[in-house]
Amino acid sequence: MLKPKDCRAIIGGSEYFPLMIGGMGVDISTSAMVLEAARLGCIAHLSDAMVPAVCDKNFGTTFTKNKAVTHHRLQTEEFIQDRVPRFDLHEYRLAQTRYVAETVERKKGTGGVFVNCMEKLQAGSPLELLEARLKACLDAGADGISLSAGLHTSSMKIMSDHPRFRDAKIGIVVSSWRALKLFLRAASRVDRLPDYIVVEGPLAGGHLGFGDDWANYSLKEIVADVMNNLEQEGLRIPVIPAGGIFDTNDASFFLEMGAAAVQVATRFTVAQESGLPDAAKQSFFEAEEKDVFVASVSPTSYPIRLLHSSPCLNSNIAPQCIAFGYVLNAKGQCQYIDAYNTTGVSETGKKLPVVEKTCLCHHILHYDAWTCGSNVIRLKETVTKNTEGIYQQPTTEQIIQEYLGERIPLDARSASTKQPNPALASIGG
Ligand SMILES: Cc1cc2nc3c(=O)[nH]c(=O)nc-3n(C[C@H](O)[C@H](O)[C@H](O)COP(=O)(O)O)c2cc1C
Repeated sequence: MLKPKDCRAIIGGSEYFPLMIGGMGVDISTSAMVLEAARLGCIAHLSDAMVPAVCDKNFGTTFTKNKAVTHHRLQTEEFIQDRVPRFDLHEYRLAQTRYVAETVERKKGTGGVFVNCMEKLQAGSPLELLEARLKACLDAGADGISLSAGLHTSSMKIMSDHPRFRDAKIGIVVSSWRALKLFLRAASRVDRLPDYIVVEGPLAGGHLGFGDDWANYSLKEIVADVMNNLEQEGLRIPVIPAGGIFDTNDASFFLEMGAAAVQVATRFTVAQESGLPDAAKQSFFEAEEKDVFVASVSPTSYPIRLLHSSPCLNSNIAPQCIAFGYVLNAKGQCQYIDAYNTTGVSETGKKLPVVEKTCLCHHILHYDAWTCGSNVIRLKETVTKNTEGIYQQPTTEQIIQEYLGERIPLDARSASTKQPNPALASIGG
């Protein structure tokens, strides 16, 4: 069996260990985590979710306040030609450049500082904002950009006049060959194919690129389909499976299938360098199968895997679009606004819980939307508890070493107590 530590992923001409840490918003894959991965020769992603708000938290900037003040003033003066509380694109680009540059400038080692950029993050100005964010990543010197959460049929074009367009690594995250084909067609128009393709299956954390029938799909089958189709088209682009890849054996399995690397996230949610608060990390460790579900509460309209204990569920907070508004479409609509407006009040006049949707901006920023991959239930296998019954957080370095097969797993339990990995279920792996 191939050992990940003996393999190398060649991506856009650079050589890495075959492990990518996926972007985890909002600021769960922190700068500290990304820098550790880069130091150890791997790739890791910052997530570009809600970057102005993350800058305010991390660097004491006032991007959120500036936006709120502007839109509040416009409303009160009834000078409203444009009711959509949009971001000032210059400010947004400044925030994004600063957020990425702060990490890039501190990089040591041969690994990659990449940024995960979500098309679905529209903030009222879909294309203009995407252009500002993507170009900010390139301005800031990001080694790579992974285009996610959307079809990205315009993304290559809108970056094409940037001096680093052909120098930075650019990849796409897809869940099917069908979506990839649309992207490749658009990319070929600017003569710039992606440097890698992340194929994300239905067991992943975060939003899923599937409908309600997500359980009918298997990562292995989608990866095989993508690889076959690429071969038929005569395209040699590194393929990187993601979603439910839990340990070094799972990683080896996909490398033997011909993958260039694997992308993982859930294992790192409980790392010491993860931005998730300690209490949430303990809930992740404690999770059992009954505690995890695929929810329809995200206003993005993508399904999202969550823990039932996520504090965001059934909240009735008023929509926070003046200060945040990251999910608003070009018309200023967000599904949470509709759900909030159609939710009634109790007999005593109190707003009832909003059940259908959640204010993702507010709750994800406050770490109240506990998203995780389905393998969250196995995190407890990987660590020990202290005498007070608290699960001990591993370091990013320890998890990376374990994936690469460099050291004995931290697993306190015997191999025979482990559950089979459903990501490999249909292939006897
Ligand atoms: C807490 C968390 C947050 C995530 N946030 C994002 C995100 O902001 N953008 C994105 O494209 N994917 C996001 N993902 C998906 C991961 O980048 C990754 O592809 C996927 O979770 C891999 O599957 P695994 O968690 O089973 O290892 C997130 C996943 C988790 C667990």
